[in-house]
Amino acid sequence: MINKYGMRKIILQSIFILSIGIFVLACQSPESIEEATYYSNGKDIYKSKCQNCHGVNGEGLGELAPPLTDSLFLKQNKSRLACIIKNGLNESITIHQKTYNGKMPGLNFADIDIAQVIVYITNSFGNKQGMYSYKKVSEDLKNCK
Ligand code: HEC
Repeated sequence: MINKYGMRKIILQSIFILSIGIFVLACQSPESIEEATYYSNGKDIYKSKCQNCHGVNGEGLGELAPPLTDSLFLKQNKSRLACIIKNGLNESITIHQKTYNGKMPGLNFADIDIAQVIVYITNSFGNKQGMYSYKKVSEDLKNCK
């Protein structure tokens, strides 16, 4: 049997646990909230503009489109990703030791869309590279070949 005092204790404990929960949520850094927003918008862009070729899980499309699961390639070419998305790609590239000779069309996105889709792909499919802001996009686009 729970008496009056027992009930009061349970209520007080519940309030205490709840306030810890609120405290933890409120303490999420602005950076991690920004990254989560980029990621979730990037996911929508990926679904509508990239997934047809690169697959739901970044697995690629046979000989036609390379997978986005090669973390090493994505890391080593991080500063090129904005150029690839904006202008497309038409060269021989090696992903997971396999050569691809397809052609990716340029998508002519705004910087913010490029940044968001990059945050999505570089933090999905086994990749974990963290934040990439739209300011970095304009820097990287200056160096497109
Ligand atoms: C019409 C099909 C198609 C679409 C749509 C497309 N890609 Fe590609 N993508 C390709 C092909 C083909 C290549 C390889 C091109 C080459 O070999 O020069 C490629 C290469 C890449 C690469 C570098 C290689 C790799 O696998 O890591 C990245 C990164 C990439 N695409 C990301 C994207 C993103 C992000 C989008 C959407 C914004 C997108 N692509 C839309 C076909 C496509």
